[in-house]
Amino acid sequence: MLEAAILAPTAANRQAFRLIVIETKKRESDLKRIYPRDWFTQAPLVICACAVPAEGWTRKDGKNYSEVDATIAFDHLILAARNLGLGTCWIAAFDPAAAREVLHLPADLEPVAFTPIGYPADAWKPKKRRPAAELVQYFK
Ligand SMILES: Cc1cc2nc3c(=O)[nH]c(=O)nc-3n(C[C@H](O)[C@H](O)[C@H](O)COP(=O)(O)O)c2cc1C
Repeated sequence: MLEAAILAPTAANRQAFRLIVIETKKRESDLKRIYPRDWFTQAPLVICACAVPAEGWTRKDGKNYSEVDATIAFDHLILAARNLGLGTCWIAAFDPAAAREVLHLPADLEPVAFTPIGYPADAWKPKKRRPAAELVQYFK
């Protein structure tokens, strides 16, 4: 999973992301401050993706791509996890201040997303998605 994440393409190959691997055992109460759901800490691992804006490629108009870098790397990790039969869940609704404090994040790291990683207790459900005709537009 980590190899898949590290192989992710990044803008100008800046690799402006960090992944923090956290063992949940005995850290449940700290982790619940970050995201207060039981299933978050039931998995043996939680991974946090951080952007490093100071390392990110910046477009001429000032847009910094470090969050995009972190997001692509994280999605590679999520897809590799699925391929191994592991369950994940993207989490954006976490408390960033608690994440900074609990994980001792330096100021130059921006937490972007978390996921628990573990063998899922539930069966896989079919995905509900809009039809392609709604999501894809052809420019004519
Ligand atoms: C960027 C992003 C942020 C998300 N944040 C959360 C979250 O904070 N909590 C949560 O339970 N699910 C979160 N999800 C999961 C989505 O709700 C889920 O992927 C979506 O409902 C589709 O479900 P499915 O992938 O199981 O089909 C997030 C997903 C993405 C891509």
